[in-house]
Amino acid sequence: MKVTKAVIPAAGLGTRVLPASKAVPKEMLNIVDKPAIQYIVEEAVAAGITDILIVTNRGKGVIEDHFDHSFELEAKLKGNPSKAKILEEVEACANLANIYYVRQKETKGLGHAVLCAKSFVGNEPFAVMYGDDVIISEDPVVGQLCRAYEKYGCGVVGVKEVPRKDVPKYCTLDVTPLEERVMQVHNIIEKPTPEQIMSCYSILGRVVMPPEIFDLIEKTPADPKSGEVYFTDAMLDLARRGKLNAVDFVGTRYDMGNKLGIMQANCEVALQHPEIGADFKAYLKQLAATL
Ligand code: UTP
Repeated sequence: MKVTKAVIPAAGLGTRVLPASKAVPKEMLNIVDKPAIQYIVEEAVAAGITDILIVTNRGKGVIEDHFDHSFELEAKLKGNPSKAKILEEVEACANLANIYYVRQKETKGLGHAVLCAKSFVGNEPFAVMYGDDVIISEDPVVGQLCRAYEKYGCGVVGVKEVPRKDVPKYCTLDVTPLEERVMQVHNIIEKPTPEQIMSCYSILGRVVMPPEIFDLIEKTPADPKSGEVYFTDAMLDLARRGKLNAVDFVGTRYDMGNKLGIMQANCEVALQHPEIGADFKAYLKQLAATL
């Protein structure tokens, strides 16, 4: 079955990037000239996804406004022929996809945020694109996962090998290969101790799930310490049933949930930018020579 729906959870507190994320959701922090969440929506659209649900809470208005028309601004730009290209870009934001919103009323973790999408998704497979993970790739990463879903009919998690020392910050997977870049997942341990590491593959930013995942999330108890419902706990249930694969995706991922990730994203995207790329490269070389 073709995947046409995506859910973007964007309701986290973003404590690691405070105070920037105090009044502006971290998903709205910019990379050169677009907010992070626009890159994610564009990735979804490039992969053939037509309907997107954004899970929000505070600062909801800013995200909604970004993907809507801004009549006053557009009218002003229309009156100035030299601003035609900017007008095109501004108008395009409102026409990217069918975008819907739902509020996560309590910040009870990623699993709980995904559960807020239950009635939007209905009985179809869907993608989850973590709102603070921007992944740049010629072949949209969510599309790479959708193809694996369509081929095997199992849930798919997007993975990359991370340095061993960083695995305890993410999760570790027990996997066996199925084909190039595709593996079956047997076990997942969230935030493992160094002794628990099964492989350096961690789930990063994109997954495609069957609708049965909602029943599994509903059965997942909240973590007694944090009160959060972990999405990986529900995915582990799928893995135990032999219904979860992993795709080692091709793409560069930027973690917009931490300060270094934001700077890496801005530097690397700026270097490729058609308008400022060359000047930024010259500036960076000059700066680097002084370090
Ligand atoms: P994170 O794990 O980065 O959580 O969420 P966070 O709370 O935003 O970040 P810190 O740790 O406080 O800095 C991954 C994605 O899931 C969303 C976040 O907005 C982010 O895009 N999320 C997280 C929700 O939508 N709801 C939640 O309850 C938790």
